[in-house]
Amino acid sequence: MEKMEVGTQIQLLEAMLDGSKVGTIVTDPAKEDNPIIYANHTFTEMTGYAKEELLGQNCRFLQGPKTAPDAIDQIRQGIKNQEKTTVILRNYRKDGTPFWNRLAIAPVTVEEKLYFIGTQTDITVEKMQQEALSENESEIEKLMLPILSIQPNVATVALVGTMSLQRFEALKVKLCEYVSEHRIEHALLDITGLTWNEESPLHWFTQICEALRIMGSHLYITGVTPQAATELVRDLDRDNMLKTYSSIEKALADINE
Ligand SMILES: Cc1cc2nc3c(=O)[nH]c(=O)nc-3n(C[C@H](O)[C@H](O)[C@H](O)COP(=O)(O)O)c2cc1C
Repeated sequence: MEKMEVGTQIQLLEAMLDGSKVGTIVTDPAKEDNPIIYANHTFTEMTGYAKEELLGQNCRFLQGPKTAPDAIDQIRQGIKNQEKTTVILRNYRKDGTPFWNRLAIAPVTVEEKLYFIGTQTDITVEKMQQEALSENESEIEKLMLPILSIQPNVATVALVGTMSLQRFEALKVKLCEYVSEHRIEHALLDITGLTWNEESPLHWFTQICEALRIMGSHLYITGVTPQAATELVRDLDRDNMLKTYSSIEKALADINE
């Protein structure tokens, strides 16, 4: 841009910044409370504030109830030490809607005067996708139902969280496969971490118990608290063959008798 007029250069740079997908602001730390002295068009679009409203203000007006104090501390430290800082934090638009802001702040010295340049990227969609992905992953993990052999002929499986029809079906198939493959005589279903809402999972346990019985194996329900026992007993019919124990140890003691 050597041969251009300074005014033309500035106009071009501004047009570039206004057309960018990233919000950009400049602050002047020599002024009281390090206020914004420049904001590009993207920043005003992203936040919903007009230039007149934000020029002369410190950028903290974007923060709100769910902005993490740790992230603000990190920014404060970076500014104090005049270091480049990048944080992801929750900010709020003028209309109160929250958004995830990937904020990068860098100190810049021009003609021996210090400024801070901040770039803001709205990563709300990216964050939501990440969250959806990790929710899916934990669902899959839950469905995996790890089965362990704790003695040559004894296997345990710990049920955690809420059981769905899909999980019980998966459990039945997996447990039957495991029992037949490893010649398991006693299968322990530990329900310490299991929660259920209305209907108790008793009929499912009975079904699994039946399936295992046909294969010559026994089912034991462990981790049954007195409260869970009351709920289960309410549903138990007279010829139910389920064996319940308060702990895995108690069931093992019975098996090894
Ligand atoms: C260049 C620059 C850009 C900033 N951009 C944001 C921003 O987009 N969102 C935000 O919550 N804080 C932003 N801040 C941080 C706040 O202005 C302020 O420094 C921070 O809240 C810590 O200071 P405080 O404890 O005095 O509030 C920015 C700071 C600077 C210097």
